[in-house]
Amino acid sequence: MKITVVGAGAVGATCADNIARCELAEEVVLLDIKEGLSEGKALDMFQTATLAGFDTKITGSTNNYELTANSDVVVITSGLPRKPGMTREDLIGTNAKIVKGVTENILTYSPEAIIIIVSNPMDTMTYLTLKTSGLPKNKIIGMGGILDSARFKTYLSLALNCPPNDIHGTVVGGHGDTTMIPLTRLATRNGVPVSQFLDDETLQKVAADTMVGGATLTKLIGTSAWYAPGAAVSALVESIIRDQKHIFPCSVALDGEYGQSDICLGVPVVIGRNGWEEIIDYKLNEEEQAAFSKSADAVRSMNNVLDTLEL
Ligand code: 2OP
Repeated sequence: MKITVVGAGAVGATCADNIARCELAEEVVLLDIKEGLSEGKALDMFQTATLAGFDTKITGSTNNYELTANSDVVVITSGLPRKPGMTREDLIGTNAKIVKGVTENILTYSPEAIIIIVSNPMDTMTYLTLKTSGLPKNKIIGMGGILDSARFKTYLSLALNCPPNDIHGTVVGGHGDTTMIPLTRLATRNGVPVSQFLDDETLQKVAADTMVGGATLTKLIGTSAWYAPGAAVSALVESIIRDQKHIFPCSVALDGEYGQSDICLGVPVVIGRNGWEEIIDYKLNEEEQAAFSKSADAVRSMNNVLDTLEL
């Protein structure tokens, strides 16, 4: 297996490092446009191989897409990260052109690849990649909901003072500070609804903290987070490469599911070797469905901005 990560910034490099350490592929290629950046980070990562005990070959490439040829999975993280005070949507003008160009270059050498989109605004970048690539929709997967769900579960575990892995929880909808929907009704602690342990006020605060989880870190760090995003990508890649059939919330093309069409938005999907294989209906209640529709409206308005850009 061969996996390419485009973008050797903090998120992309962490993705490549996680993928290599987990030996999810025989080869990882890290590509960036900045001279020497990906070669340096790839060599630094590869020098951990004898210390961390992995044999994955890691190669850096300064904008030479030939080195990415025949990749099974490509992760697109390229573009600007947000700075404190910015929304993910503020990045569309810069990142849309970058993501479109990267998609076209990748497909020149890996026409069968499954493409994972991390670049923001992620739902709109996923939609752009779907339209640009012409690939079957099951091969285009936006990574946001896995990360948001990880933050949701973390905040729940802190509120419950319990091990984070005792928590199951899912965030659906857009990967935006106002568009994501933490499904508190369905969250459990070892199978017991969390509402049995936490009052509504606490649950609402957990949901609110989750929605701005990325912005909270950007304010503290000065740029977008990278450890949890990298780990979220790695979990998604593993379910693809090892055909694990995990159900993850991912941004995928909807064709009537959850009442939406011609949009990419976060819904629970089965992830296997062919990409996303099935959309799971969580049977949202009236309030959740209304929030999902509102989220779709906001993401669709961002998608419409694409038509105003010279891409
Ligand atoms: C985040 O939420 C980078 O969008 C990503 O941290």
